Amino acid sequence: MENIPKTYDQKFSKEDIEREKEFKIQQIERNIINSGVPERQRLCEPDLKNALGEKLDLMKSEIHTGMLYALIGKRGTGKTQCAVQLIKYACNKKISAKYAVTMDFFMDIKETYKTHADSTEARVLKDYLKPQFLILDEIHERGESEWENRLLTHMIDKRYGALKDTILISNQTHDVFCMSIGNSILSRLNETGGIIVCNWESFRG
Ligand SMILES: Nc1ncnc2c1ncn2[C@@H]1O[C@H](COP(=O)(O)OP(=O)(O)OP(=O)(O)O)[C@@H](O)[C@H]1O
Ligand SMILES: [Mg+2]
Repeated sequence: MENIPKTYDQKFSKEDIEREKEFKIQQIERNIINSGVPERQRLCEPDLKNALGEKLDLMKSEIHTGMLYALIGKRGTGKTQCAVQLIKYACNKKISAKYAVTMDFFMDIKETYKTHADSTEARVLKDYLKPQFLILDEIHERGESEWENRLLTHMIDKRYGALKDTILISNQTHDVFCMSIGNSILSRLNETGGIIVCNWESFRG
């Protein structure tokens, strides 16, 4: 017979319970690190009693609904930090999460075009489609060639269709972002999330 739950035939000691708790905390920490988040923001303990904190709560409440949000605006306003807090939240909820800068996505794909490449375009795409929660940071750092725009739209549309959550981050202004991201993604942003403009004081001083 399969799928028989394991039975606990003796009482746990306090030490067993503590060890189990510690193991779970370490597992969550490993998942956060493996998601690819930058070390600086992972180690920061941000003050969240501000406009950013409110937005963070809104997005947290929508994880696992197939949300698509864009965080845009001035440098240093904590966009990446906000993304890292969301990844931490997701990992604590045992939701699979990945952080990537957009350029890495294109570079991962380009790697597969080399002779004797050890991955394929489909496999790279799968890495970006599989996590329930994906952050694509620095989305403005792309050439905006036809190839890049189509690939990005394809990936985001696939994630949208599969009810996966995605956050895009850019330093562009509202108008420039809307122009560069294209109607297909704008329409999905409109339906399942929106654009959050971060134009408060920079945390970098
Ligand atoms: N709420 C906060 N409280 C304290 N420190 C913060 C907060 N948010 C961000 N920081 C710190 O401020 C710095 C800038 O934040 P972050 O890198 O997230 O900004 P950003 O908006 O992503 O900037 P850029 O647009 O240049 O990528 C980082 O060192 C980050 O850890
Ligand atoms: Mg950033």
